[in-house]
Amino acid sequence: MSEASAPHAPAIGIIGGTGLTQLEGLEITGERNVDTPWGAPSAPLVMGRLGGVPVVFLARHGDPHRIPPHQVNYRANLWALQSVGVKAVVGVNAVGGIHAAMGPAQIVVPDQLIDYTWGRPSTFFEGELEHVTHIDFTDPYTERLRKALKTAALDRGVHCIDFGVYAATQGPRLETAAEVRRLERDGCDLIGMTGMPEAVLAAELELEYACLALVVNWAAGKSDHIITMDDIQAAIDEGMSGVRATLTRFLQG
Ligand code: HPA
Repeated sequence: MSEASAPHAPAIGIIGGTGLTQLEGLEITGERNVDTPWGAPSAPLVMGRLGGVPVVFLARHGDPHRIPPHQVNYRANLWALQSVGVKAVVGVNAVGGIHAAMGPAQIVVPDQLIDYTWGRPSTFFEGELEHVTHIDFTDPYTERLRKALKTAALDRGVHCIDFGVYAATQGPRLETAAEVRRLERDGCDLIGMTGMPEAVLAAELELEYACLALVVNWAAGKSDHIITMDDIQAAIDEGMSGVRATLTRFLQG
């Protein structure tokens, strides 16, 4: 029997981003190297249990962290997760904050996104097709998952903002101050480099999907100093325990 049809197939997948290459506390039951029609995912899928609940973990940037945002094979990652029975995915993303309430170490579950990425393979619907498909993408994140993440955070006493427009930028460089002002005028609250095409590919596969974002810096020009990797690391160190606590509670349902 394939894992996809096994009675206890893992239903939840977590894609860990910067600062979350491994899921601490995960009781690992196996690792799977999955080959997909789109190539290899970023890393082997780590199958395990967190707080007793089955989960599949995938390190978006590889383990160790080495794949930059514009070179992640998002199609292979989503496909691989679905192939082992995952039905719902939480993407954990490190982001820069634009909104005044979204400073370093703040956790946010955004409700919308704007895609500024370019040149990334961003659909499964290409090649020799029998018909053309345009999926609805009005709400890029699954409301049920968003609510569950918010409730889980509250339950663990983790302060979590449950709105926000995520700007997905190409990277790997950070933005100029003028670019951030433009994103703000566009209505964006957060900036990250990995939210797209991950969200749309999940939608094309009919997977439930939500983003759990950790703000790791003020976006360029939003504070009086430049963005340093040391400051980003400090925010990760401060905020990641809240992300982990939220995920553990979320998995318990
Ligand atoms: N901009 C884009 N992506 C990011 C940032 C940022 O400021 N911080 C973390 N990921």
